[in-house]
Amino acid sequence: MEQIITNPAIEQYIDQQKSPADALLLSVERATHLKAMSPQMLSGQTQGNFLSIIALMMRPRRVLEIGTYTGFSALCMAEGLASDGLIYTLEANPEIAPMAQEHFSMSRYSDKIVFKIGDAREIIPSLDETWDLVFIDADKTSYCDYYDMVIDRLRPGGIILADNVLWYGKVLENKMDKKTKVLHEFNKKLANDARVKCVILPLRDGINMAIKL
Ligand SMILES: C[S@@+](CC[C@H](N)C(=O)[O-])C[C@H]1O[C@@H](n2cnc3c(N)ncnc32)[C@H](O)[C@@H]1O
Repeated sequence: MEQIITNPAIEQYIDQQKSPADALLLSVERATHLKAMSPQMLSGQTQGNFLSIIALMMRPRRVLEIGTYTGFSALCMAEGLASDGLIYTLEANPEIAPMAQEHFSMSRYSDKIVFKIGDAREIIPSLDETWDLVFIDADKTSYCDYYDMVIDRLRPGGIILADNVLWYGKVLENKMDKKTKVLHEFNKKLANDARVKCVILPLRDGINMAIKL
Protein backbone atom coordinates (compact mmCIF):
# COMPACT_ATOMS: atom_id res chain seq x y z
CA MET A 1 0.00 0.00 0.00
CA GLU A 2 1.27 3.45 -0.87
CA GLN A 3 2.10 5.66 2.11
CA ILE A 4 2.21 9.42 2.39
CA ILE A 5 5.90 10.29 2.72
CA THR A 6 5.49 13.98 3.48
CA ASN A 7 2.33 15.65 4.68
CA PRO A 8 0.80 16.95 1.39
CA ALA A 9 0.30 20.44 2.86
CA ILE A 10 3.97 20.57 3.85
CA GLU A 11 4.95 19.29 0.41
CA GLN A 12 2.83 22.01 -1.19
CA TYR A 13 4.47 24.61 1.04
CA ILE A 14 7.95 23.32 0.10
CA ASP A 15 7.01 23.46 -3.59
CA GLN A 16 5.77 27.04 -3.23
CA GLN A 17 8.77 28.39 -1.30
CA LYS A 18 11.51 27.48 -3.75
CA SER A 19 13.55 29.50 -6.22
CA PRO A 20 11.81 29.58 -9.59
CA ALA A 21 12.97 27.32 -12.44
CA ASP A 22 14.38 28.94 -15.57
CA ALA A 23 12.36 29.25 -18.78
CA LEU A 24 13.86 26.15 -20.44
CA LEU A 25 13.16 23.92 -17.43
CA LEU A 26 9.59 25.22 -17.31
CA SER A 27 9.12 24.43 -20.97
CA VAL A 28 10.68 20.94 -20.54
CA GLU A 29 8.27 20.30 -17.69
CA ARG A 30 5.31 21.54 -19.74
CA ALA A 31 6.28 19.54 -22.85
CA THR A 32 6.80 16.40 -20.78
CA HIS A 33 3.31 16.67 -19.29
CA LEU A 34 1.78 17.37 -22.71
CA LYS A 35 3.64 14.87 -24.88
CA ALA A 36 5.40 12.14 -22.87
CA MET A 37 4.15 8.94 -21.27
CA SER A 38 4.43 8.74 -17.47
CA PRO A 39 5.22 12.42 -16.77
CA GLN A 40 5.38 11.64 -13.03
CA MET A 41 8.87 10.26 -13.78
CA LEU A 42 10.21 13.80 -14.23
CA SER A 43 12.14 15.05 -11.19
CA GLY A 44 10.14 18.28 -10.99
CA GLN A 45 11.21 21.74 -9.87
CA THR A 46 11.78 21.12 -6.16
CA GLN A 47 13.93 18.04 -6.67
CA GLY A 48 15.50 19.77 -9.65
CA ASN A 49 16.61 22.62 -7.39
CA PHE A 50 18.10 20.07 -5.00
CA LEU A 51 20.08 18.47 -7.86
CA SER A 52 21.25 21.90 -9.08
CA ILE A 53 22.35 22.91 -5.58
CA ILE A 54 24.36 19.70 -5.09
CA ALA A 55 26.07 20.29 -8.45
CA LEU A 56 26.64 23.99 -7.69
CA MET A 57 28.24 23.01 -4.36
CA MET A 58 30.45 20.36 -5.91
CA ARG A 59 31.29 21.96 -9.27
CA PRO A 60 31.78 18.43 -10.67
CA ARG A 61 33.96 17.65 -13.70
CA ARG A 62 32.23 14.36 -14.46
CA VAL A 63 28.61 13.58 -13.74
CA LEU A 64 26.86 10.33 -14.65
CA GLU A 65 23.09 10.24 -14.88
CA ILE A 66 21.40 6.84 -15.31
CA GLY A 67 17.92 7.50 -16.72
CA THR A 68 17.54 10.66 -18.82
CA TYR A 69 13.82 10.58 -19.68
CA THR A 70 13.09 14.06 -21.15
CA GLY A 71 16.30 15.64 -19.86
CA PHE A 72 14.98 17.69 -16.93
CA SER A 73 17.34 16.43 -14.21
CA ALA A 74 20.38 16.44 -16.52
CA LEU A 75 19.73 20.12 -17.28
CA CYS A 76 19.43 20.83 -13.54
CA MET A 77 22.78 19.21 -12.76
CA ALA A 78 24.46 20.79 -15.79
CA GLU A 79 23.98 24.17 -14.11
CA GLY A 80 26.69 23.31 -11.57
CA LEU A 81 29.31 21.74 -13.83
CA ALA A 82 32.92 22.91 -13.67
CA SER A 83 34.08 24.96 -16.67
CA ASP A 84 35.57 21.78 -18.22
CA GLY A 85 32.77 19.59 -16.86
CA LEU A 86 30.65 17.04 -18.71
CA ILE A 87 27.48 15.22 -17.81
CA TYR A 88 26.95 11.79 -19.35
CA THR A 89 23.28 10.89 -19.36
CA LEU A 90 22.03 7.44 -20.40
CA GLU A 91 18.60 6.54 -21.74
CA ALA A 92 17.38 3.12 -22.91
CA ASN A 93 14.13 4.22 -24.53
CA PRO A 94 14.71 5.34 -28.16
CA GLU A 95 11.18 6.78 -28.30
CA ILE A 96 11.79 9.39 -25.60
CA ALA A 97 15.36 10.14 -26.70
CA PRO A 98 14.50 12.67 -29.48
CA MET A 99 12.59 14.78 -26.96
CA ALA A 100 15.52 14.80 -24.54
CA GLN A 101 17.88 15.60 -27.42
CA GLU A 102 15.69 18.53 -28.46
CA HIS A 103 15.76 19.89 -24.91
CA PHE A 104 19.54 19.53 -24.71
CA SER A 105 19.98 21.30 -28.05
CA MET A 106 17.97 24.26 -26.74
CA SER A 107 20.17 24.54 -23.64
CA ARG A 108 23.24 26.69 -23.09
CA TYR A 109 24.84 23.53 -21.67
CA SER A 110 24.38 21.54 -24.89
CA ASP A 111 28.14 21.11 -25.43
CA LYS A 112 28.52 19.79 -21.88
CA ILE A 113 25.93 17.03 -22.20
CA VAL A 114 26.99 13.64 -23.56
CA PHE A 115 23.74 11.87 -24.33
CA LYS A 116 23.96 8.12 -24.92
CA ILE A 117 21.02 6.03 -26.02
CA GLY A 118 21.07 2.38 -24.93
CA ASP A 119 21.03 0.13 -21.92
CA ALA A 120 22.97 1.75 -19.07
CA ARG A 121 24.15 -1.69 -17.92
CA GLU A 122 26.02 -2.04 -21.20
CA ILE A 123 27.15 1.58 -21.56
CA ILE A 124 28.54 2.22 -18.06
CA PRO A 125 31.44 -0.29 -18.29
CA SER A 126 32.54 1.38 -21.56
CA LEU A 127 32.91 4.84 -19.97
CA ASP A 128 36.50 5.51 -18.99
CA GLU A 129 35.82 8.29 -16.48
CA THR A 130 36.15 8.98 -12.77
CA TRP A 131 32.83 10.24 -11.46
CA ASP A 132 32.32 13.15 -9.10
CA LEU A 133 28.55 12.83 -9.00
CA VAL A 134 26.24 9.96 -10.02
CA PHE A 135 22.46 10.19 -10.20
CA ILE A 136 20.73 6.80 -10.34
CA ASP A 137 17.18 7.21 -11.67
CA ALA A 138 16.49 4.34 -14.11
CA ASP A 139 14.93 0.85 -13.76
CA LYS A 140 14.54 0.18 -10.05
CA THR A 141 15.45 -3.52 -10.24
CA SER A 142 18.99 -2.62 -11.38
CA TYR A 143 19.84 -0.13 -8.61
CA CYS A 144 22.21 -2.53 -6.79
CA ASP A 145 23.91 -3.39 -10.10
CA TYR A 146 24.34 0.31 -10.96
CA TYR A 147 25.86 0.93 -7.54
CA ASP A 148 28.33 -1.94 -8.01
CA MET A 149 29.20 -0.64 -11.48
CA VAL A 150 30.01 2.90 -10.39
CA ILE A 151 31.37 2.71 -6.83
CA ASP A 152 34.96 1.91 -7.83
CA ARG A 153 34.89 4.73 -10.36
CA LEU A 154 33.52 7.28 -7.92
CA ARG A 155 36.29 9.47 -6.51
CA PRO A 156 36.65 9.78 -2.73
CA GLY A 157 34.37 12.65 -1.75
CA GLY A 158 32.19 11.87 -4.76
CA ILE A 159 28.43 11.66 -4.30
CA ILE A 160 25.83 9.12 -5.38
CA LEU A 161 22.20 10.21 -5.40
CA ALA A 162 19.53 7.56 -5.99
CA ASP A 163 15.93 8.55 -6.57
CA ASN A 164 12.70 6.82 -5.47
CA VAL A 165 14.33 4.81 -2.70
CA LEU A 166 11.19 4.99 -0.51
CA TRP A 167 9.05 3.80 -3.46
CA TYR A 168 5.82 5.43 -2.32
CA GLY A 169 6.51 4.15 1.20
CA LYS A 170 6.30 0.53 0.04
CA VAL A 171 9.71 -0.23 1.60
CA LEU A 172 7.79 -0.51 4.89
CA GLU A 173 5.73 -3.47 3.68
CA ASN A 174 6.32 -7.00 4.95
CA LYS A 175 5.42 -8.55 1.59
CA MET A 176 7.35 -6.49 -0.95
CA ASP A 177 7.05 -6.71 -4.72
CA LYS A 178 10.23 -7.15 -6.77
CA LYS A 179 11.03 -3.46 -7.28
CA THR A 180 10.40 -2.62 -3.63
CA LYS A 181 12.58 -5.53 -2.54
CA VAL A 182 15.51 -4.33 -4.66
CA LEU A 183 15.13 -0.75 -3.43
CA HIS A 184 15.09 -1.98 0.18
CA GLU A 185 18.17 -4.15 -0.55
CA PHE A 186 19.82 -1.12 -2.14
CA ASN A 187 19.20 1.04 0.93
CA LYS A 188 20.53 -1.71 3.22
CA LYS A 189 23.54 -2.25 0.96
CA LEU A 190 24.56 1.39 1.19
CA ALA A 191 23.91 1.58 4.94
CA ASN A 192 26.21 -1.44 5.45
CA ASP A 193 28.95 -0.41 3.03
CA ALA A 194 31.93 1.00 4.93
CA ARG A 195 33.16 2.71 1.76
CA VAL A 196 30.35 5.28 1.95
CA LYS A 197 28.34 7.33 4.42
CA CYS A 198 24.70 7.62 3.42
CA VAL A 199 21.39 9.11 4.44
CA ILE A 200 17.89 8.89 2.96
CA LEU A 201 16.27 12.28 2.43
CA PRO A 202 12.46 12.13 2.47
CA LEU A 203 12.26 14.53 -0.46
CA ARG A 204 9.43 13.54 -2.81
CA ASP A 205 9.81 9.72 -3.19
CA GLY A 206 13.06 9.55 -1.19
CA ILE A 207 16.63 10.22 -2.29
CA ASN A 208 19.49 8.14 -0.95
CA MET A 209 22.55 10.36 -0.76
CA ALA A 210 25.93 8.69 -0.24
CA ILE A 211 29.42 10.15 -0.10
CA LYS A 212 32.43 7.96 -0.85
CA LEU A 213 34.88 8.06 2.05
C1 LIG B 1 12.41 8.14 -13.76
S1 LIG B 1 12.88 8.30 -15.43
C2 LIG B 1 14.22 9.44 -15.36
C3 LIG B 1 13.77 10.81 -15.01
C4 LIG B 1 14.82 11.86 -15.15
N1 LIG B 1 16.06 11.50 -14.48
C5 LIG B 1 14.30 13.16 -14.56
O1 LIG B 1 14.43 13.32 -13.35
O2 LIG B 1 13.72 13.96 -15.29
C6 LIG B 1 13.69 6.80 -15.75
C7 LIG B 1 14.24 6.66 -17.15
O3 LIG B 1 15.17 5.57 -17.15
C8 LIG B 1 15.08 4.93 -18.38
N2 LIG B 1 15.65 3.57 -18.24
C9 LIG B 1 15.06 2.46 -17.73
N3 LIG B 1 15.91 1.43 -17.78
C10 LIG B 1 17.06 1.87 -18.31
C11 LIG B 1 18.31 1.27 -18.62
N4 LIG B 1 18.54 -0.02 -18.38
N5 LIG B 1 19.28 2.03 -19.18
C12 LIG B 1 19.06 3.36 -19.40
N6 LIG B 1 17.89 3.98 -19.15
C13 LIG B 1 16.90 3.25 -18.61
C14 LIG B 1 13.59 4.94 -18.70
O4 LIG B 1 13.37 4.75 -20.08
C15 LIG B 1 13.19 6.33 -18.19
O5 LIG B 1 13.21 7.27 -19.23
